[in-house]
Amino acid sequence: MQGSGTARLEGAASAAAEAVRAAGSVLIVSHIDADGITAAAIASSVCDRLGKEHRVVFLKKLSEEGIGMIDSAPEPLVWICDLGSGYLSAFSRPGIVITDHHVPDGSRKAGQMSLDSFSDMVHVNPHDAGMDGSTEISGAGVTYLVAKAVDPSNTDLAYLAVVGACGDVQDSEGRLVSMNREILNDAVADGSVSVSEDLRLFGRETRTLIQFLQFGSDPSVPGLSENGAECARLYSSLDIPLKDGRRSRCWNDLTPAEKERATDAVLSRLSPEDAERAIGETYTITGGRPHTELRDAKEYATLLNACGRYGDAEVGMRICMGDADALAAAKDRRTSHKQNISSALAMVKEKGLVKRRRFIQWFDAGSEIQETVVGIVAGMLLNGDGADRDMPIIAFADADDGAKVSARADRSLAGRGLDLSFVMRTAAEAVGGYGGGHSVAAGATIPPDRKEDFLDAVEDIVAAQII
Ligand code: C5P
Ligand code: ZN
Repeated sequence: MQGSGTARLEGAASAAAEAVRAAGSVLIVSHIDADGITAAAIASSVCDRLGKEHRVVFLKKLSEEGIGMIDSAPEPLVWICDLGSGYLSAFSRPGIVITDHHVPDGSRKAGQMSLDSFSDMVHVNPHDAGMDGSTEISGAGVTYLVAKAVDPSNTDLAYLAVVGACGDVQDSEGRLVSMNREILNDAVADGSVSVSEDLRLFGRETRTLIQFLQFGSDPSVPGLSENGAECARLYSSLDIPLKDGRRSRCWNDLTPAEKERATDAVLSRLSPEDAERAIGETYTITGGRPHTELRDAKEYATLLNACGRYGDAEVGMRICMGDADALAAAKDRRTSHKQNISSALAMVKEKGLVKRRRFIQWFDAGSEIQETVVGIVAGMLLNGDGADRDMPIIAFADADDGAKVSARADRSLAGRGLDLSFVMRTAAEAVGGYGGGHSVAAGATIPPDRKEDFLDAVEDIVAAQII
């Protein structure tokens, strides 16, 4: 099954490659998150290498304005990455390539994709090939397939697709699978990524040993999370020095024997399920300097997300393309991102904003949380103790063009039939808005005075979907 799906996806990627090769100049349009930024970096590198004139525009989402900009762009080809599939029927221009993994707009079917003419739309999307775009391949991954179809030596870009997939949490089962695995294999063969089994807490390169355990939250470690003194005692009891001369050591500075001792001590504090979840693959970017975000795929993706969410996806893309100055700018942003998220989380909890209905829970952050981060906050509430994992969570935040909605759900609900992409699109359209996304992470924009009607519609659809 996966074999024929792969062939279909690669067939579409070849058609896209043809269209890119044939175009005089290219407008690359991409999403502002880590997956979109790495996708844009891949697409832009492809154009650079072909000597093709191109510019890159980042969008938070495809609004009517964005579609208008694409329709009227002077370039003969617009290459849309990590966006677009949900709005296929909205475009009215020729010369569009879409490399995306969001659930496609149902009004245009896979078979309608034209492979023989670059003046028509070429749509490369795993769903059209019978794959799941939330776990099997990311937007950067699909874009990478086109890069590889343009030139097989473009496998040096595979590591960016690994970062993109990690940014979209496609490794949530502890490892990258399916097409993501194929892409990972390209990156490993190229020497740009190495894979190891390790404790999957965040911050293997940039956090101190204490911070690594103290702030590791998924899963949180009883007795160690939020308790720096206890973390310090643990390392000392295991005879693991916190410093190397004057410099603080990070998790990846530990020797294999030290790592094993510390890992065993952490696992012994976890439930069997959490212990299983805590161990998995980690991806080291071999070209990234040790002790920087660029060395670890997860940290790299988090850095890019911080750029994108605060209006500077371009800086993120410059980092992906090797610009060292951009890294310093991004670090400042990452610090403010962390502070923003933690104060937003605390605010929602302190004010008791989350309300429960029968099948869903929701909160309205108004203008207190930026619309670009409200989805991250909703996801963190679900993963922590701020919300109920058995129900989807719907979050509202004020945006310039209406009320921004972010919806998140635990993966187990997708197994029971939940598809938030359909829920967001259908409920939004019922109140005069629009939306889409993935089964467990989706979003919408709706008229601000229709929130109650929207929630009613969401609840009806969710109740009908979940078995
Ligand atoms: O903005 P947020 O992080 O909540 O978005 C979750 C997912 O839903 C993203 O993949 C985004 O592209 C998608 N989305 C969409 N249409 C919207 C809003 C979000 O397809 N109007
Ligand atoms: Zn994506």
